[in-house]
Amino acid sequence: MGLLDGKVAIITGAASGQGAAEARMFAAEGARVVLADVNPAGAEVAASIGGKGVIFKKLDISQADQWQEVVAGALNAFEKIDVLVNNAALNDNHLPIEETEYEHFEKLIRINMLGTFLGMKTVLPAMRSARSGSIINISSTAALRGMPSIFDYGATKWAIRGMSRHAALDLAKYGIRVNAVFPGIIDTPMMEAVTTPETRAEF
Ligand SMILES: NC(=O)c1ccc[n+]([C@@H]2O[C@H](COP(=O)([O-])OP(=O)(O)OC[C@H]3O[C@@H](n4cnc5c(N)ncnc54)[C@H](O)[C@@H]3O)[C@@H](O)[C@H]2O)c1
Repeated sequence: MGLLDGKVAIITGAASGQGAAEARMFAAEGARVVLADVNPAGAEVAASIGGKGVIFKKLDISQADQWQEVVAGALNAFEKIDVLVNNAALNDNHLPIEETEYEHFEKLIRINMLGTFLGMKTVLPAMRSARSGSIINISSTAALRGMPSIFDYGATKWAIRGMSRHAALDLAKYGIRVNAVFPGIIDTPMMEAVTTPETRAEF
């Protein structure tokens, strides 16, 4: 008996790092899993987990039409969606506000914030008709307090924290739970992109 026997989950950002680990763990606990990522290497992760209940869908989370396709594909394959893990995010530079460019700020809002919103919105009809569901939004400890030189990423992670709280209150009446997770430093490709080996060793 797995903890997630019979459940169906969509996990974004599942080509790498924590999303790939979450997909492995969900499958090991008996869930059927849709791995979604803009990086097609997610197909290899899905193949390495194996089984008919594990599929990959290409998804740029900032694109509403792609979300529609992924959710339709999940329903077509598995007939329901019990869990959405909004895990995908971009964190490709660490800068203070005075060095933050408009274009980069907008890019992170589109991916990290809008992408999380679109995920919740698009799974909502299926979860609302089932009167049950669990949405798990991956935020960060950067949304638990202020931090220097991580302005745009930090702002989007605070937005995810806020959206999770507000959505949880809106959706409780349908039996849909919305929670945010606040990871600390995790050794994944994302951390490699924004730290040196020395700082990672210190962390
Ligand atoms: N690693 C850490 O220390 C840390 C700390 C706190 C929070 N987090 C959060 O944990 C989550 C997972 O990060 P990770 O550490 O596994 O990083 P990662 O870089 O290994 O994985 C992120 C994944 O998101 C995907 N992605 C990026 N942009 C996308 C888009 N537009 N559409 C679809 N997929 C996209 C990437 O292709 C990648 O597979 C993220 O939300 C991140 O912000 C990470």
